[in-house]
Amino acid sequence: MGGDVIPPEVAALEDYVPLARERLTAPAWAYVSGGAADEVTLRRNRTAFDQLLLRTRVLADLRQGDTRLDLFGQSYDFPILLAPVAYLKLAHPEGELAAVRGAAATDAGLVVSTHASVSLEQIAAGSPSKRLWFQLYVQPDREFTAGLVRRAEAAGYAALVVTLDAPVGGQRNREQRARFGLPPGIEAVNTRELPPLPAYAGGRGGPLCGGILESALTWNDFDWVRSLTRLPILVKGIMNPEDAERAIQAGVDGLVVSNHGGRTLDTQPAAIEVLPEVADRVRGRVPILFDSGIRRGTDVLKALALGAKAVLVGRPYVFALAAAGSPGVAHVIQILRAELEVAMALTGCRNLRAIDRSVLWKPAAARAMN
Ligand code: FNR
Ligand code: LAC
Repeated sequence: MGGDVIPPEVAALEDYVPLARERLTAPAWAYVSGGAADEVTLRRNRTAFDQLLLRTRVLADLRQGDTRLDLFGQSYDFPILLAPVAYLKLAHPEGELAAVRGAAATDAGLVVSTHASVSLEQIAAGSPSKRLWFQLYVQPDREFTAGLVRRAEAAGYAALVVTLDAPVGGQRNREQRARFGLPPGIEAVNTRELPPLPAYAGGRGGPLCGGILESALTWNDFDWVRSLTRLPILVKGIMNPEDAERAIQAGVDGLVVSNHGGRTLDTQPAAIEVLPEVADRVRGRVPILFDSGIRRGTDVLKALALGAKAVLVGRPYVFALAAAGSPGVAHVIQILRAELEVAMALTGCRNLRAIDRSVLWKPAAARAMN
């Protein structure tokens, strides 16, 4: 939209929240902002970050600092990517095309959802930097799934992110109360040719006994996923060190520690609470990415300190997309980058390699126990 401008009052990511709320319909707002069930995990994704405190270092030598990193053979100027989010046309008439322009303007990586509302080829055409990854939901129709992966590879996507934590939909009560449904003209165009899945709508049988899980992916099928592509494969939705170990055995190239932004199983811990135990188990064998609750540069620093190599942000860029289009998406990246650099400078970290658990302050009692 030509009229997209950054509102002058926006200083932090949270400032986009009320602006997005005004722009979105009530059901779309419920879909984007909501979480599963009582939203215990959604809230905890934030409170857990707020309870982690930082320890400053003064007079550190910060000359020639940078935030660069390499991921799967590509270099990135900063460790922040845009997470896969379905149906971005709910937030903006141009949807994913506006998002990819914002990502390209800042050289940020963008993970495109299987449920994007624009074709994956059109999105790729909008990204000269080719910092695009494709998020895969494995479909019950395996040949169709293989076709999707081939399309993503042909269109130049650089990695495949297989989301594992949503074989069934979460109990999204806020959405249900708001009667969320996709408006006319917005659909998952990349899976248009698939017969619709039988949705679990409560009632007699649940998803466990009702059939949908009969065709769901298991670890036994993972060799097949591997065989579909030469692209690096990440698995998203790892919240258990045992699953991290299993994924590494299955030959994945990276993990995303994530609870899907609190949208799947309610009352699981915050993703940031689980990250350290996953990192301890993984011991650097594959890179760990992280999402769920990142709203500040200090959150990025905390996730990196606890073992992530990079982070993804979800809702914040969708809110900015709704409020200010592609400039808003770019703005979210700029704000987070600037905040991360301030946080690194004040904790004495010249580059990403310098960030470790020593930037986190521990109460005296906890220090005495170690
Ligand atoms: C998502 N997420 C998601 N994940 C995924 O793998 N495929 C998808 O299609 C979607 N769709 C989606 C829609 C909406 C509206 C939201 C808010 C989220 C999850 C997303 O990738 C990410 O894990 C979370 O959004 C991260 O949490 P924050 O940053 O929103 O707190
Ligand atoms: C969601 C699905 C699409 O979180 O991943 O809405």
